[in-house]
Amino acid sequence: MKAVVISFISLLVGQAFGFELSESSLKRAKEIIKKMTLQEKIGQMTQAERQHATPADVKKYALGSILSGGGSNPTPNTPEAWKKMVKEYYDYSLESKSGVPLIYGVDAVHGHNNVLGATIFPHNIGLGVANDLELTKKMGEIVAEELKATGIYWNFAPTTAIAGDQRWGRFYESFGRDVEMVTELSMAYMQGLQQAGVLATPKHYLGDGGTAFGHDRGDTRLNEEEIRAIHLKPYIAAVKKGAQSIMISFSSINGEKMHGQHYWITKVLKGELNFQGFTVSDWNGIEELEGTYRDQVKKSVLAGIDLFMVPERWKEFMTTLKELVLSGEVPMARIDDAVTRIIAVKDAMGLFNLDFSTEHSFGVSAHRAVADKLAEKSLKIVKNENVLPLKNKRILLTGKAAMNTGYQCGGWTIEWQGVEENVPGATSIYEALKKNGAQVTFINAEALPLINPSDFDVAIAAMGEKPYTEMMGDIVMGEYPYPDRTPYGYTLDYYSLHPEDKMVMKELKKTNLPILSMVFSGRPLEMTELKNDSDALILPWLPGSELNLIAKKIIQFN
Ligand code: GLC
Repeated sequence: MKAVVISFISLLVGQAFGFELSESSLKRAKEIIKKMTLQEKIGQMTQAERQHATPADVKKYALGSILSGGGSNPTPNTPEAWKKMVKEYYDYSLESKSGVPLIYGVDAVHGHNNVLGATIFPHNIGLGVANDLELTKKMGEIVAEELKATGIYWNFAPTTAIAGDQRWGRFYESFGRDVEMVTELSMAYMQGLQQAGVLATPKHYLGDGGTAFGHDRGDTRLNEEEIRAIHLKPYIAAVKKGAQSIMISFSSINGEKMHGQHYWITKVLKGELNFQGFTVSDWNGIEELEGTYRDQVKKSVLAGIDLFMVPERWKEFMTTLKELVLSGEVPMARIDDAVTRIIAVKDAMGLFNLDFSTEHSFGVSAHRAVADKLAEKSLKIVKNENVLPLKNKRILLTGKAAMNTGYQCGGWTIEWQGVEENVPGATSIYEALKKNGAQVTFINAEALPLINPSDFDVAIAAMGEKPYTEMMGDIVMGEYPYPDRTPYGYTLDYYSLHPEDKMVMKELKKTNLPILSMVFSGRPLEMTELKNDSDALILPWLPGSELNLIAKKIIQFN
């Protein structure tokens, strides 16, 4: 494996960190395909979810890929158990007739965030504030290291969305609204991942962050010139720098779902930009197309999607696609194109010779120190009227996010939607203040009326959004074309969204102590009232597991 990873990295280094699919990889793919049955080829185009396919299924159906959806973890949820699970899938894939190795994919969007004890980095919104290319690349290297500790070599990241409306539930997954900065930071993350031997996946192609009203999976209504000037830019860079897998967006452009867009996928991405890798659909993304399942499979394959994330219905997908090929509605050339791309990337990555025995570090302090630095650099000081520094002050700490690290980590952490409970390995603001020598006492909100204010010099209210992911984080103000969804809220006003925090602030104000408000959130919200109620206000966004340097900063503030 070592030799192979070096060759993959040297390929990457050759082009800064991308790699053209070498002639030998393409040649190997073509040789293998010659001996494959149609069933085996379609197997390579199929990605099932681990809860719906066994390692024996991988062998029997020659499945090309398995994924873990958000929160889909083995039991126990340890790096060792993950590696054992992934290796079993991999070993069975080698026993299939074609012997093409399986590629296992996960969303390690801000660390290997499904796994207990992983280093959890700030979400992209914070990385955009930090805007540190070197540290973001370092994050990619560390996430790759922790992925490899679990035997995984494919990350459905970076998100390259250009954020638009902050009502979008995935706003925090974007590095921001500036095209140049989003492009540079997402490429830095991709560089770190790929130079460490893990396949990155810029997503979601195309225009995911620009939907009207911020509706997740909604409609981006821009003309072609605007699409190219804004949303296409990160993908132009990604292809140039060696992206070999790109995920297609659930969203639409001018009313046409991306999963059916032959123009943007085949003509532009594969043709004009000469993308040589493979495209991957999003989770049942083909089912958002019109018509029957057969219509959806046909349209998406012909549009140019190569690998299909069909977590549950993967057998039906395979049968349907086989029928479409046998009937001539999907030409074999399209199948061979998709499978060539997939196998060539697997070869270039060294997947044919994976060595699971190599040790990799996981959740170690050196990793956490980088996450800590990025968290500190992402902190925004909105207001400070003689509150900071906190040193030598007796601190009253309250609020739902004071000791609960689920809020500071946000969505895509342990569970798909994140957790409103402690994240193993994460440091709360309470612990971080303590560790940095602050005189801090935690007071539950309910007990605030009982305290003696003269026991304290300053109060900190640690608050924030409840964790959310994707459409569950949408804020809706007006028309919402998805009656089956329950959005996060119906206003951008912080106090209206979080009356529990308004209550805490009301109680705190009765103490006449100076108040430092600390709000964990995945997007800018309307906070005028909160800001007026506070003597100081800081926004850490969603900083992840490490708050040590943020604590040090507000204590010293020099
Ligand atoms: C989700 C997301 C995508 C993720 C995929 C697999 O629905 O849209 O970003 O990579 O499914 O979890």
